[in-house]
Amino acid sequence: MCGIVAAITNGLDARASVLHGLKTLEYRGYDSAGMAVHTGDSKLAVRRKMGKIANLEAELASNALPESDQVIAHTRWATHGAPADRNAHPHTDDGGEIVVVHNGIIENYLDLRAELVADGHVFLSDTDTEVLANLIARHMRNGNGGIDLHTAVRTALTEVHGAYALVAMCATEPGTLVVARQDSPLIVGVGDAAHYAASDMPALLHLTRDFVALENGESAILHADKMQLCSASGDWIERETTLCDWTPEQAEKGGYPHFMLKEIEEQPDVLARTAFDRFHDTEGDVVFEDTFTLTDADLRALRRIRFMAMGTSSHSAMIGRWLLAEFAELPGETLNASEFLYSPILPENDTLTVIVSQSGETADSLRAMRELQKRGGRILGICNVQGSTLAREADDLILTHCGPEVGVASTKAFFGQVTALYLLAIRVGRARGVLSTERGLELLHDLRTLRPKLDSLFAPEAMAAVRQAAAFLATVPSCLFLGRGLQHPIALEGALKLKEISYIHAEGYPAGEMKHGPIALIDEHFPVVVLATPDRTYEKMISNIEEVRARSGKVIAVGVAGDQQVQNAADYFLPVPEVPPYLAPLVNVIPLQQLSYEVALALGRDIDQPRNLAKSVTVE
Ligand code: F6R
Repeated sequence: MCGIVAAITNGLDARASVLHGLKTLEYRGYDSAGMAVHTGDSKLAVRRKMGKIANLEAELASNALPESDQVIAHTRWATHGAPADRNAHPHTDDGGEIVVVHNGIIENYLDLRAELVADGHVFLSDTDTEVLANLIARHMRNGNGGIDLHTAVRTALTEVHGAYALVAMCATEPGTLVVARQDSPLIVGVGDAAHYAASDMPALLHLTRDFVALENGESAILHADKMQLCSASGDWIERETTLCDWTPEQAEKGGYPHFMLKEIEEQPDVLARTAFDRFHDTEGDVVFEDTFTLTDADLRALRRIRFMAMGTSSHSAMIGRWLLAEFAELPGETLNASEFLYSPILPENDTLTVIVSQSGETADSLRAMRELQKRGGRILGICNVQGSTLAREADDLILTHCGPEVGVASTKAFFGQVTALYLLAIRVGRARGVLSTERGLELLHDLRTLRPKLDSLFAPEAMAAVRQAAAFLATVPSCLFLGRGLQHPIALEGALKLKEISYIHAEGYPAGEMKHGPIALIDEHFPVVVLATPDRTYEKMISNIEEVRARSGKVIAVGVAGDQQVQNAADYFLPVPEVPPYLAPLVNVIPLQQLSYEVALALGRDIDQPRNLAKSVTVE
């Protein structure tokens, strides 16, 4: 939430490359955007505009900022203060000497603001960030010329409660940017005679692939030719850069009209990248990288497994719980990470907690992780972003290799997570002696042969069926998604996708619940999307379809191609290839993603940046 980009170079104008990076980060918020430059003559210049980055670009075209080798920029997801020009970042202090971009929430900003107002400071916005700028300025002024920007930032931050990632620049200290973080993500990119900072790696991939991630409490001074990293306790420290294996092309649309469509179509490759290199083709087992340190003995000692996540990731976590029970006979539970903190559950020594997160920066999930670690719990992270907070702080890690996910609605990340969870189930099942080598080999074979089967989901006939159903769905105000067993999380995911990008109200339910209340909604206008592929719930799903039809409801059914029973019963039929039932979630989710996409397209919605949302929810 909120995206930050900054650059300091050796004389090269950095405005265009920072703007490019900012556009890559627009998924983090699009309520307003702004940019500030150091003009080289002990002055700062700022441009800010409410709305998307396109509005800022238009402003910059008519009211250009001077060329500069020191540029900071921000795209905002509003927390304190409504979307408005005056609340857009960057914010300066009232003397125009300090300029700051910030992601996070300063919880005690009202108290600090009152103190600063009593001191004579004047505020022009409703934001907590303007408080930060003035606080830093106050410390610099009080320093009688003896306090530099970094010291002033560090001193100001001792007074602040809350979460922040920030970049500050000072008119009278050219050649320096100061960055700091606490509970909001910030990475530093190391270039050729240049340093950069950003909330997320995709923003900088066109400039560098060498990164240093800041840990909580750390700050840094960035010059064009060097970076000085400072620990939370104030010591200067060294840290090696990490090479990111994402490419700049992966963060571009590559000819697609929307990132979401590109990312849906990338899913067969995600299967290959996340799974195939980890297969042990003679042992029927899975080999993870050395970030996964759980030994066979550790896995055998487990009695329970707990999954925690938010949103789409919590739907893959539900599938993970099922797979671990099925293939490793390890019972478990799935918890909403934000609710965990209020639950009385305590970790037992023989419990492993798996935290699933695309970004690795979701505040609720990180808070749950840290709380459990404090209580002595062991955390396995399943994450798409190398170097993210979850990836660094979890005790063990499985990276999904989805490449950067830019569309706000998560698609390929879900697919990568479920794939990783299959691998985990096989590994744990093998370690615990539940799966034989032969069964392990069968499961690997099923996964490997899934990839070509996915092609039919993108064939013109399949897409035509999706578009027909979407044309109808786009006309309704509300609908239900039903699934049983392993298909229940897919029903939840289908409903979440539809509501977030089309703004049509949708609820996912375990199909058995329909008769316990939701059935009252059904009439001749009401659509129900059912997941009816063959597994042990099939007959019951057919009964659910009949119950909907008996009340004249409209049925959109996901079923195996050629299944006449489901096809004849449905008003709209979305065909999928037949796969072993335990792999059906990976297949069935795709037409539901396509359905939401087509509905949102038909309604003219902003597919990649739906209203009110932002990718990577870094505040609780
Ligand atoms: C929905 C979506 C969100 C995220 C959720 C968790 O399409 O993207 O529900 O799944 O905010 O995010 P991560 O996975 O980054 O922890």
